[in-house]
Amino acid sequence: MPNDSVNRLIESVLPLREINLDAIVEVGFKGLDKEKRQEYFKVFNVKPMVVGPRLRNLHTWFARRPCSTARALTLSAVARSELAYDVFLEALGSGKSISSVGRKFGSGLLFYAKPNKTIVRQVVSENLSKQTSDILVLDPMAGGGSIPLEAARLGFRTVAVEYNPVAYLIVKASVEFPAKYADGGLFEETLKASKEFIQKAREELGRYYGEDAENYIFARGVKCPFCGGLIPIQGVEPAITKAPRFKKRFLKLTYDKEKRLFSAETTDKAISSGTIAKRGNNIKCPYEGCGKWFQLRGQMKDGTTAFDQWFSEHARLMENIVEGFTPITSEIEEKLLSLHIPLVKQVGNSFYTAWDDESERKKFTSSLHALSNELFDLQNFIPLDEISAENVWASTARAKGLSKWYMLYNPRQLLAIAKLSKIVAETAEKLASKNGEFGAATALYLALALDKIIDYNTIATHWQGTGFKTGIAHTLRGESTLDFRKEYCEIKRVDEALMWALEPNIAESGSLAKTTGGVLPVLRFLCDEFRNSGVGNNVDVYSGDATQLSTILQPNSVDVINVDPPYFEQVIYSDRSEFFWVVLRRALAPVLELLFKPGLKLSNWSWTNPTVPRDREVVAYDKEDSEGRFSRFFNEFIKETSKVLKEDGVLTLWFTHPTAQAWRVVSESLYQHGYVVPKVWPLQTEMPTRYKKHVNIVAQEMSLVIVGRKYHRQKLLEVSPQDIRGSLIENPLFTKTVEETVESTRKIIVESNASPADTAALMFGTALSVASRFELPIGATFQDLYDAAITTVVSRYTEPLIYKILTETGPVKMDEATAQKIAKNIAQGMLWDPATRSYLTLWLISRVDLATAKIRQEPLGLHFDLVQTVGKLCGFGIENLKHYSLITEKTINKTGKAYHPQFLEMLTLPGGQTYLDRLMEVAPGNATIIARMAMTESGDPTARAKTIKAKMSMHSDRELSSNAALAIILLETTRNQDLGYRITDKTKITGYFPGMDESEIAKHIRELAIKTLTQLIF
Ligand SMILES: C[S@@+](CC[C@H](N)C(=O)[O-])C[C@H]1O[C@@H](n2cnc3c(N)ncnc32)[C@H](O)[C@@H]1O
Repeated sequence: MPNDSVNRLIESVLPLREINLDAIVEVGFKGLDKEKRQEYFKVFNVKPMVVGPRLRNLHTWFARRPCSTARALTLSAVARSELAYDVFLEALGSGKSISSVGRKFGSGLLFYAKPNKTIVRQVVSENLSKQTSDILVLDPMAGGGSIPLEAARLGFRTVAVEYNPVAYLIVKASVEFPAKYADGGLFEETLKASKEFIQKAREELGRYYGEDAENYIFARGVKCPFCGGLIPIQGVEPAITKAPRFKKRFLKLTYDKEKRLFSAETTDKAISSGTIAKRGNNIKCPYEGCGKWFQLRGQMKDGTTAFDQWFSEHARLMENIVEGFTPITSEIEEKLLSLHIPLVKQVGNSFYTAWDDESERKKFTSSLHALSNELFDLQNFIPLDEISAENVWASTARAKGLSKWYMLYNPRQLLAIAKLSKIVAETAEKLASKNGEFGAATALYLALALDKIIDYNTIATHWQGTGFKTGIAHTLRGESTLDFRKEYCEIKRVDEALMWALEPNIAESGSLAKTTGGVLPVLRFLCDEFRNSGVGNNVDVYSGDATQLSTILQPNSVDVINVDPPYFEQVIYSDRSEFFWVVLRRALAPVLELLFKPGLKLSNWSWTNPTVPRDREVVAYDKEDSEGRFSRFFNEFIKETSKVLKEDGVLTLWFTHPTAQAWRVVSESLYQHGYVVPKVWPLQTEMPTRYKKHVNIVAQEMSLVIVGRKYHRQKLLEVSPQDIRGSLIENPLFTKTVEETVESTRKIIVESNASPADTAALMFGTALSVASRFELPIGATFQDLYDAAITTVVSRYTEPLIYKILTETGPVKMDEATAQKIAKNIAQGMLWDPATRSYLTLWLISRVDLATAKIRQEPLGLHFDLVQTVGKLCGFGIENLKHYSLITEKTINKTGKAYHPQFLEMLTLPGGQTYLDRLMEVAPGNATIIARMAMTESGDPTARAKTIKAKMSMHSDRELSSNAALAIILLETTRNQDLGYRITDKTKITGYFPGMDESEIAKHIRELAIKTLTQLIF
């Protein structure tokens, strides 16, 4: 099938087990279960640990992917398929060298191992007759930079494109600058500048924080509308934290009814009563003699709630100071303290009152004076920009009247940010005038540290004290919109926070394993990696649009495109990044031109814009992509990749496959633009903890990596335009290709230990692989081809599984010939009937371990996404499954819903005959009805079979046979307690088997029923 291009390793083998284990640890080793930890130790001979610098410590980015996977994919896309497996591992830096890495950082992570450049060079020159630095690797949606970093570490010519300016700067800081300037002393210069930065911050800001304070918890204050008493809205009373390692972790508030003021003290003694917001959205005034209720949150008919009022008063206060230049009077000071209540401070492992500490209050109010006095000087460093109406993530702020970005801060936070931005800007100007781009690069790392500080210093930074995981949750954490909790926090005194954000001491000492997340240890690590590497100027980063790649790169110029695009339902990158951009553009103002000009390829955006570009961001704003935006841009993006990729180039597309719609867009785009998919790999790219909270629900854990090549397609002969699907399913070349592809996928499933959901995804990937190899038969659409492929793949995959259940793992074993007949019969049913295909696939996922064919003790609940995708792609969607009660929905603890395919339980639902009539419209319904008859009719199997035949005379023999086969596999995979005899007619059944216990009865009933049903199969 291939033209004259060379087959690559990625088309045949990948060290899946090693890469996936390594990646799991890299992205979230804390969530690893015992089993995985043991497996890791077995494979690598070191404990799974990450104790060194990580790319994400430079700057947060959403969905940053594991570097180990990125490295393995790029190298395997370059290497020839004949390359020996152990040589490949060695080239990656795994294999033997892993133990020396283990000694270095106490961690075996591939990220900490250097690729073996000598072997990489050999692989490239011997196999492809090229120099490593001639191989061009492109990541057109580079995000947090994992993929280009690893391409550059392998020594390839690396090009990264990113639409978002914040990510563009992150990629420059992660790859381009370390590669270019490691030898010129980038780390050393940045270390020096960082120390000066911290020193200046101390001088400028130290006086506004308590000397010993580490973190503050602030309460938003409201006045009782009835008595005027000041009340802190806070959720930390009475326990500031439940984590027992802290002292003085209870908060006691005393309300003075005369002064209408409260005092706060922290104590070791548990306080049981008095959460003011106990009744959900209401507050009971705690002042003696008042005690009236008023509304805290929610909708109020006659005005706003206390919470809403707080935000509008805060916005007004900030606006008056910042834009109205209002002088600070004692009333304004008082107003500040009644809105922003510095409730407690954390010092080491204790909490102390800050509210009843005169000096703490003074320090806080003095920041207000400073902000006001120095406004003139700080004007350029206050994010005065409007929060754009397009920013959905920050719409919650706008809805509360926070119309400009600076309103996300209290005066002390804003003062700190403006001052730090000013220091960064001055440093940037000085360094750039001396060293040009190198100086700008140095300043960039200071700005990245500043971003860490702002992420932990807003009025939306929340205190995570109620669980055992105590700490400060950053402003940009998971929620789909900016979320304001009752109280908020300020991280540390800012000079200390900068020590944490930059970690100059750890970086300088070289003990990088001690890092707790600072910028400089990562920079040192990266510079060490690139020192004397010769990569130098061989990295280019563009601020550009992946849907217009051909305006950046020459046609047919790229060897490997390794890309991880956004998909449906993901974070809107532009929205969240704007929070950073409005600060970065000020702090880096003097050097933005130096940073952007060389890479800017966007026609209608420049670094002077206060908003980030959005027009062509490849995202869907809703699950269905109702505007068709994602589909359109994704398609254009794939088209552009195909233009710039060489004829013998390789595309590796990371695909998190949450919806059927995403499958449609991806598969159609790849096909339309000429890609053949020789292979699809399941790879671990996200924290395995994602679905942990859904106990016993099966959901997707891995991403797929789809390999695309520009191979010629094969022609399918004898496909009838009148019956495209039917003739495809029976076409010998088509079915042979399915068989071969399914076989190789079966191996991958076992090797990668894929979950049932990932197995299902791999089936759809396999179908894509099959469909992509053929030209469209006359009159056919791609959907016809893909549909036929899915149908055939699912049926081929299931047949041997059923055979194994019938002969080996199921409770009633049969002879090989009968089992084969039944398995074939069911597979045929799956081919032709969408209801059977969809239902049985889900049923088997829930009831059977797909790798071993063993019946599960506990059936698995299925995640919505899985049911939706399987349903849709198999041609019988979730709505249909529900309509016929083939599936039911159950709520699993509070965390989510799980779906369970139904069998005999279907028959016990209310609705009587009408309901039975409906069930008889679909094969799984009929199968269930005859399974029940086979269990309950009287007589021996022959007599029972006769009765069933008579009662079901409206069905043809063929139909009856296929329903009976389906009923058999359902009975074989049903637990004793689900056989239903207990629910309906226990007395009758026990009467047949006097003196037997339940499991014996189950056994007999099942055997009898299966024997009966077998007689109905011709
Ligand atoms: C899933 S993320 C990539 C993450 C990255 N692989 C990593 O490991 O950090 C997808 C990226 O695509 C970028 N993006 C969205 N639309 C784009 C476009 N039209 N051109 C280029 N990049 C785009 C987003 O800004 C985002 O950073």
